[in-house]
This record gives sequence, C-alpha cells and structure tokens, in this order.
Amino acid sequence: MYRSHRNGELRLTDANKEVTLCGWVQKSRDLGGMTFVDLRDRYGITQLVFNTETNEELCKQARSLGREYVIQISGIVKERSSKNANIPTGDIEIEITKLDILNESKTPPFTIEDKTDGGDELRMKYRYLDLRRNPVKENLILRHKIGLATRNFMNNLEFLEIETPFLIKSTPEGARDFVVPSRMNGGQFYALPQSPQTFKQLLMVSGYDRYFQIVKCFRDEDLRADRQPEFTQIDCEMAFVEQEDILQTFEGLIKNLFAEVLKVELPEVERMTYADAMKNYGSDKPDIRFGMKFNYITELVKGKDFKIFDEAEDIIAITVKGGNSLTRKQIDKITDYVKTPQVGAKGLIYCRVNEDGSYKSSVDKFYNQEELAKWVDTCNAKPGDLIMVLSGDTTKVQSQMNDLRLHMGDMMELRDGKVFAPLWVLDFPLLEWDEDSERFHAMHHPFTSPKKEDFELLNTNPGAVRANAYDLVINGVEIGGGSIRIHDKEVQSRMFDLLGFTKEEAETQFGFLMNAFEYGAPPHGGIAFGFDRICSIFGGSESIRDYIAFPKNNSGRDVMIDAPANVDEAQLEELGLKFKNMNIS
Ligand code: AMO
Repeated sequence: MYRSHRNGELRLTDANKEVTLCGWVQKSRDLGGMTFVDLRDRYGITQLVFNTETNEELCKQARSLGREYVIQISGIVKERSSKNANIPTGDIEIEITKLDILNESKTPPFTIEDKTDGGDELRMKYRYLDLRRNPVKENLILRHKIGLATRNFMNNLEFLEIETPFLIKSTPEGARDFVVPSRMNGGQFYALPQSPQTFKQLLMVSGYDRYFQIVKCFRDEDLRADRQPEFTQIDCEMAFVEQEDILQTFEGLIKNLFAEVLKVELPEVERMTYADAMKNYGSDKPDIRFGMKFNYITELVKGKDFKIFDEAEDIIAITVKGGNSLTRKQIDKITDYVKTPQVGAKGLIYCRVNEDGSYKSSVDKFYNQEELAKWVDTCNAKPGDLIMVLSGDTTKVQSQMNDLRLHMGDMMELRDGKVFAPLWVLDFPLLEWDEDSERFHAMHHPFTSPKKEDFELLNTNPGAVRANAYDLVINGVEIGGGSIRIHDKEVQSRMFDLLGFTKEEAETQFGFLMNAFEYGAPPHGGIAFGFDRICSIFGGSESIRDYIAFPKNNSGRDVMIDAPANVDEAQLEELGLKFKNMNIS
C-alpha cells in the first residue's frame, strides 16, 4: 500500500497512530533544528516535521526536497504545539520516521497557490500544474457534482442516457461545422456534431421516450467567455409531451441542481415572451435581477426641434435609482462607453431628478421643466434618480439600451452573484430574416414547430410566426434552449420551403430524418442545457473555461498540446488532401 491515509484526513483523534502518506511538497521551512514540510494531495495538506535531534539523516534529506517533489513518508501523528485553524488538519503534524522521494520535480513556472503569480497563457501552457491549484480543483469538483446530480435526477425520472455518434453529417444548428476527413471514403468528410439534435429525434421515433445525454458538442464559431469550440450539453428529449411538460420537467431539474449542489432554493421561474423581453429589456436573455425596464418616450419627446430625437425611430429611457449621485465625470465616462464601437450609440442624453423636485437635463435647451416632468412621470423616476435616454432605429437602440442597462446594473451593484433570477423566454419567432442571403433562417433549428394558432401566417406573413421554442435564462445568461418539434411531414416540408431548400436539398441533408418520420414519429420535444454555463453560474465566474479541465484559448488553440497543428504530408496524402500550394511545413 502506498498510503494509509490522505492528506486532508488526519485529526487529533488519530494522535499516536503510525501512518504513511504520499503527495507533493507544497513548501518546506528549514528552522535549523527542525524542518517543516507541507505535503499536499487532492484532499488537503498535512504538516510533516523532521527533527535533527531524533534523526539527523532524515533532516538532511528533507532539506533537499524541492517544491512539487513527489514523496512518501511514514511517521507518527502528533498534536501540534501551534495549531493552524485555517486547515482541517491544523491540529496535528506527522513526526517523520521514513522518507522516500518517489519523483523529483523541476521548479514549477508559477506558484501552486490559490493566488498564483502565473499569468493566463502560462497557466494554460502548464494546465496540468494549474489543475493542482485549489480554485481550479474546486471548479472541477463542482462540475462533477452537477453532472452526478443531473444523472441521478434524470435516472429517477426514467430518462435513459444514450450515446450518439461524433462522426456524423452536418447538423443544422447554425454555426460552422468542424469537419473530419475520411480516409476510407476519399474526398469525403464527417462533421462533428454541433448537437445530437437529429439523433435524439430519431431516438424518439425508436420509442426511447425519455432520453438524455451529457455530451460534447462542437461549433466553429467566434469565441467568448461563455463559448468554447467544444463544450458540453445536457441534452434531453421527450415524446408525448407538450411545451408545458418540458418546462415543468426541466424547471424541476434546475431547481434540483441548485438545491442538491448549491443548497439554494431557486425562486419560481418567471416567464416572459420573446416579444416582451425585446420590448422591455432589448435582449432575448434579460437579467431580471434588477428593474430598469425600458420606457418608450418617443411620442413625448418628438416635435420639440431637437433633431436627434425628431429623426429617431424610437427613443428609450431607463431610470437609474439613486443615479443622481453620479458625478458629471462619471456620466461622461458612461457616455464614452455607449459610444464605443461594441455598443455603437451616437451619444447619451440624461435628466437628473433633483431632491428639491427640479430637473436638470443635458437637453435643457429643448425641454422645459414642464416637459421634463412628463419624462419623469412616464419613467416613474423619483427625486435622487437619473433618467438615461438613447435614440435611433428601434432594434439598434434596443440593443444599445440593453448594453447600457447591464452596464448601469454593474455600476450600481445590482447584479449580485449570490442572487439567482431564472426566467423562461417563450414564443420565439420561428424564422429570422437574413439580410445577406435574403432569405429566412430558422431561429432555433428547422425542426422547431410553429405555434398552432400561427399556422395560417406561414402562408401570409412567415416572419410573424411564433414557435414553440423556449430558452432558460439565469441572470442574463442563456443556459438552455429547446423546442417542440415538427412531427408532421407536411409541416416539415413547408418549413424547408420557407427556408429556401429545394426538395432535393432537403432530401440530401435531412432525408434520413424525413424517412424516419414516415414510420410513426410520436409528438416530441426537448431542450439542451449548456453544462459549462451551468457550472460557471454555480461557481460564480464569468468564464466557462474555468470549469473545463483542458479548455481552448480565445483563438481556439490548446496551447498546452499546441493544437491545431500541421500534419505530415504522408497523412494528408492518405486522406486525399494533398493540394499544390498548400502551406505545409
Ligand atoms: P442551442 O444551440 O440553443 O440548442 O444550445 C443549447 C445550449 O448550449 C449552450 N451553448 C454553448 N455553451 C458553450 N459554448 C458554446 N459554443 C455553446 N453553444 C451553445 C447554451 C445553449 O443554451 N439542439 C438544440 C437544443 C434542442 O433544441 O433541444 C441546441 O443545441 O447554453
């Protein structure tokens, strides 16, 4: 046996026991007569003490230990004279009788401590060392717990976890595919799944009416803090259900995860239509931890010779509670923020609501106190508040105001990481118009069913058709999305029509699914959650990278293994991919 105990385990009640421990040297302190070593493993830290008086030779050996050496020790558990209340093993130490160096270590390029001196790139290059650090380890433990709780919950509801293939044909999820060349079918490619969407629908046809899978998905899209090229979904599908069944089942899952893993009782999941979300928050994933709903003051402010407002399609105002305390300098900084290219507003107009009941706006030249009083009334602003106004084309100004609202939420500290505000966004549009290709795209995916009451509109005004599609949003993060699917062949082919597929194109891409639908497809629907995103919401970090053992950087690179990389010519040749003029080193 390499070890009798782990390093987080021993307590005062173990005093005088003879133990054998293994681990990494966290640090050692040579105090002349005594040498102290902190021994670390996944479970904690135990203090080792080497005493010159009792064993000179061992002490010499201990002094030679470098950081991150792997050692095995035997010794006796003793009560410490100066205890350390900060660690669970802080009452004891091990008086060493035997030391074996199992492996030496180079000095690590950064300290293996909670607050390390290593920068991002360096830690990613040596991710296996970074993973030794407590905060990263805690994140992976959290991820494990969420996965386990998910499996238990789903199993209790008789969902079966079924694996689906990774080498497939393109899935219609809207991002670019990663493709894999086939050696045995020269010139042809597999695609890695953007999600198991079509397979889980086929499983419904096969009668596995409750499916789930914690599964890797691959999307070649621009990366952000909440997006990785390979990420994990909790992918789910059910047959013989309506939207309401799905909402309730998965509200149950999320509530259970919060209760089991975080010991947090999640409040009722609010519901909002997509149309209301866009109108009131300018986003399909509003953070409803705080108010600052949009007020449309368009009619109120037009026609007063203020050109910017007169020329705008819409004028939107938000009320920042207590915002009158902001200085001119602070407001100027906010103005700079809304003018950054990523927000794209031309400028910011504001109106202070003073304690004495007077108003001071940045457009006093155009609006008198009486007129400003109407703004204040419409925006339900009170003395001490600040009204902020943006104007422009409706969709643009909604999106800009969404950015400003979130910015002000941060600034006024209204986005408390300990508060969780879950929300179902419902009734997404079925289609969205794409200006570039001048045709409709499926907003969710082409198998999403239109709302029955909007069927007629499919022929007259397709853009207005609402879908049985829903997203689960927590604190402004889209953590899941799904829909009730089309299981009727006629509706499906009408949908392909609208999306501009010819019969042949639809047949080539989705023939297998349409064929399957001819053999008794049950009504079905489902949802997929972003597993990494759930972890980051639970753990309180913005970046999902912190919850992935070996993530990619922002350029999609794994800097540790240095991927992607060139492959040798022979391999390319074998795959039928050797082209002239290709830049191969
Ligand atoms: P959707 O495309 O909305 O739906 O994806 C579901 C959830 O997956 C997460 N997600 C991501 N997480 C990290 N990195 C990414 N690049 C990434 N892309 C998506 C999000 C999102 O809500 N097949 C459908 C589901 C269905 O209809 O059942 C689908 O994949 O949290």
